[in-house]
Amino acid sequence: MRPAPLVPAVPAATADGTPYSPLYDDIYHSAHGGLAQARHVFLGGNDLPARWIGAERFAILETGFGLGLNFLATWQAWRESRARGRLHFVSVEKHPFRRDDLAALLAPYPELELLASQLLSQWPPLTPGFHRLHFDEGRVTLSLLFGDAQALLPQLSARIDAIFLDGFVPARNPELWSSALLAAVTRLCHSGSTLATWSVAGEVRHALESTGWKLERCPGYATKREMLVGRLEHAVSPAPILESSPHTAQRRAMVIGAGLAGTAISERLAARGWQVELLERHAQPAQEASGNPSGILLPHLAKDDALAARLSRAGYLYALRRLHGLAAVRWSPCGVLQVARDRDHEDLQRRTVAELELPAEFAAFLERDAATDLVGRDVAHGGWWFPGGGWVSPGSLCNALLAAGREHIRARFETEVAALRQTATGWQAFDAGGTLLAEAPHVVLANTHAANRLLARALPLTPIRGQISYLPEPWREAVSALNHVVCRSGYITPPQAGTVCVGASFDSDDTDLTPRPADHAGNLQRLDELLPGAARGIDPALLEGRVGLRSAAPDRLPLIGTLPDMNAVPESSATLEKLLRLPGLHALLGLSARGMVWAPLAAELLASQLDGEPLPIERDLVRAVDPARFHLRALRRGKESL
Ligand SMILES: Cc1cc2nc3c(=O)[nH]c(=O)nc-3n(C[C@H](O)[C@H](O)[C@H](O)COP(=O)(O)OP(=O)(O)OC[C@H]3O[C@@H](n4cnc5c(N)ncnc54)[C@H](O)[C@@H]3O)c2cc1C
Ligand SMILES: C[S@@+](CC[C@H](N)C(=O)[O-])C[C@H]1O[C@@H](n2cnc3c(N)ncnc32)[C@H](O)[C@@H]1O
Repeated sequence: MRPAPLVPAVPAATADGTPYSPLYDDIYHSAHGGLAQARHVFLGGNDLPARWIGAERFAILETGFGLGLNFLATWQAWRESRARGRLHFVSVEKHPFRRDDLAALLAPYPELELLASQLLSQWPPLTPGFHRLHFDEGRVTLSLLFGDAQALLPQLSARIDAIFLDGFVPARNPELWSSALLAAVTRLCHSGSTLATWSVAGEVRHALESTGWKLERCPGYATKREMLVGRLEHAVSPAPILESSPHTAQRRAMVIGAGLAGTAISERLAARGWQVELLERHAQPAQEASGNPSGILLPHLAKDDALAARLSRAGYLYALRRLHGLAAVRWSPCGVLQVARDRDHEDLQRRTVAELELPAEFAAFLERDAATDLVGRDVAHGGWWFPGGGWVSPGSLCNALLAAGREHIRARFETEVAALRQTATGWQAFDAGGTLLAEAPHVVLANTHAANRLLARALPLTPIRGQISYLPEPWREAVSALNHVVCRSGYITPPQAGTVCVGASFDSDDTDLTPRPADHAGNLQRLDELLPGAARGIDPALLEGRVGLRSAAPDRLPLIGTLPDMNAVPESSATLEKLLRLPGLHALLGLSARGMVWAPLAAELLASQLDGEPLPIERDLVRAVDPARFHLRALRRGKESL
């Protein structure tokens, strides 16, 4: 189902200056101070910081992010405590504030200034879905779930240690306190999880007690006589759904392939303290598909905001946040104009932005005149404008990821894995001569369709040949004033370090790596469709370029997760959750034509799965990229394999 567009919160205040919601006719926090309330009710009520000292990771779930005071108070307390692990703060919010409004609401808290400014600098555009933000070199992670808690909590995969119940008063905000919602919260908890809330309403107590919470009334904050704290004695069934691997206690992995996929997962695991051995057959990273001088970064939009579009939006926004936070990546958020194919497509683009009510900082529709003004030369039609998008040098991103994780990553180049063997404790990798190269409890296949050579049963990955062309002087003159990426079926990047890239051809099952003049001619034609006249007079025979192989699944979505055991006999009603997996054998494959969009989020998802952390995307999106999906479909069709 298409998620409802977000309705932002409207900032208002009561006569005494307390933030107030006209929508719910209630205040955001106690009139006696939001920060002190956060510390007394939510931190104190959950026995924090004491409980997180010594924990490797600690996860908090909040209902109602509001101004973020509870989050900021928690983050501040985490910093000031002796915590050494990783804090996950997950908060669901139906009506987020716009960034400027949030900034104004947080301005009266000088002691939070430093943390608030970091939160504001990463504050996502108001689009529905999960948004993951990292702070303090990844030791603190905030997952903002934008949308209605009733729809989003069942989509969360997490194991939660402490709950902050902080809706508006139950009488005016009943859905955030309903038994169904509290049951959804409880489903994510384990025995020993705790909760705290300022509300002692009878319905809330009864709903919590009926799901197994042992409650206690404690002195409330300021004028409130009482508040509620609770402890879950016995986890409910079904228990929290998280990938759990028998080998997770040993946080060691080998990763095969040092392109975008392999360097991204190595860095994400390294950030969690894993030891990673990265094996790459070339002498350097990013020598194959990830070796182009630049690739473009933009999301895929669809009028029904279907699964692929939601996934792409999550990937795009996460990639941008990572790029802004990584040193030494060559990239530019110069904006991307996606020109419509024709009048009908133009109309579809216009209606998509309007119907999804997308915020302009994420995507806008520009009529042809406005698009022409933006680009500085004639474009054939109007188009989608993604102001935060741009181009990235994938090789520089790979190097930056390796540098970020260097303390935990041992990269071994000119090392080709020819075979994998499963052992009682994990996996071994061998070269073509049968020499053992490495062994580890986990192995991540990040080597595109070449992974199939290492697997007993092939995954449905197809190589797709792509050729880009470089525009040399003097023809580059025609586009020298170009400040943005312009794309349609092809793309052109603005001049950078003397290179203008025009791309790209797209030929399935073609693995010839030699550049062809005919494909340069095709790229010139794509350029001409984008910017009429820009390719005039250019001789394709004189162009240089580069060929790479994308690798794609039939549904064009990536393969992220633990591989299924295709020899296991499934139950008659097989589901992805029930399928047996090959312990420790994971995929980060099939990034197709969107490696820049997929790789950072895909790596974060897989690392979260391996480390038993809250997952960064909705459960239906996790299922959509599960590498076992094809096996499951084949089983359902009655075939024994793919
Ligand atoms: C022409 C072209 C244009 C593109 N344009 C864009 C774009 O504009 N935007 C975008 O987002 N994406 C674009 N892409 C897609 C993007 O480049 C890919 O999705 C991405 O680079 C894939 O990264 P990867 O790490 O999965 O694969 P690769 O970069 O191919 O890395 C796989 C690595 O595995 C290694 N390897 C393989 N087998 C073994 C083995 N047995 N042992 C050891 N090492 C092994 C290989 O040597 C290689 O280094 C484009 C791709 C092409 C080809
Ligand atoms: C009391 S405020 C939370 C204050 C916040 N915890 C803080 O620290 O500033 C309650 C919040 O719950 C949100 N909310 C209400 N109903 C919701 C729902 N169904 N799903 C998600 N959020 C909801 C409101 O928009 C509001 O921001």
